[in-house]
Amino acid sequence: MKKIGILTGGGDAPGLNAVIAGVIVGAKACQCSVLGILRGWAGLLEKEAVVLDPSRADGLATQGGTILFSSRTNPYKKPNGPQIARDNFSALSLDALVACGGDDTLGVAHKLYHDFKLPVVGVPKTIDNDLSGTDRTFGFDTAVNIAMNAIDSLKVTAESHRRIMVVEVMGRHAGWIALGAGMASAADVTIIPEVKMSVSEIAAILKRKKDLGRNSAMVVVAEGAEIADAFVTQDKSTDSFGHVKLGGVGKYLEKELEKALNWEARSVVLGRLQRGGVPSALERCLGIRFGLAAVCLCRDKKWGQMVSLKGNDVIGVSLSEAVGKLRTVPPALYEEARLFF
Ligand code: F6P
Repeated sequence: MKKIGILTGGGDAPGLNAVIAGVIVGAKACQCSVLGILRGWAGLLEKEAVVLDPSRADGLATQGGTILFSSRTNPYKKPNGPQIARDNFSALSLDALVACGGDDTLGVAHKLYHDFKLPVVGVPKTIDNDLSGTDRTFGFDTAVNIAMNAIDSLKVTAESHRRIMVVEVMGRHAGWIALGAGMASAADVTIIPEVKMSVSEIAAILKRKKDLGRNSAMVVVAEGAEIADAFVTQDKSTDSFGHVKLGGVGKYLEKELEKALNWEARSVVLGRLQRGGVPSALERCLGIRFGLAAVCLCRDKKWGQMVSLKGNDVIGVSLSEAVGKLRTVPPALYEEARLFF
């Protein structure tokens, strides 16, 4: 093995640069060079790449975002896309490809491995933490901490104005971010996609607290929560992986709770703030370990595998284990949070 390619696809996540640093340093130890493919799968389709020499790893793990840029490009939705990806892999003289991404990016990696035996390995990235086959994805810890800090701040102004504050967090159709941030910041109610709750149920919880003398309340809601038996979308469009743009459930709840309780309410959408900034210590270290382990999978020709955190160990699992089935919040975990409502 002489040359490893690496790409970062889907929504960016804190820790991506740490993975890239791990791959650069791991590759150097194997006397391998590294080619950074730009803008996810788009860069492979367009042969847009940069050489990542060992000096690029200096301090890289401390930086948020991705120096390789990202996109939500699906080669399987482009004419001849998969064949072009395979041909460009050869044209760029690559021996291995490390794909960092969530379900979509790794789904493509899995298909390219399945269809062409492309020598690819995956790294589990997403703030949503909804990928199967691993105990956690990187990006999640930082996102939860950002959301927790924001909710702590918003509680102060909610208290000053004696309002209900509804905070909408990301996470798509999994409630990991909402559950983590809601529990950590002692929210009064946390609503996740996995457990349906009606406006009247939420209002009843807040009314009970008000009757006990509370002046303000904090509601944390996951963007994919289905309050009115459907999730709220920004518009009807979908991306190249068929995903709708979620968003708006916080505003919906603000109006409905204000009406139901005659209690002033405001909502805040944290949005992409949760993906910005610098990675947490946990994620810098995990990213580096994932990057180093990805190089080991390449060295050992474990194609079609993904690095995965199991307990405290980083191991390889089949990409087929990781993609296709979302890892959602188990009911028992939500029940623990519900005890605090
Ligand atoms: O998958 C990560 C994520 O941040 C989701 O939580 C969110 O729904 C989506 O990406 C938003 O993506 P974009 O920034 O492309 O609109």
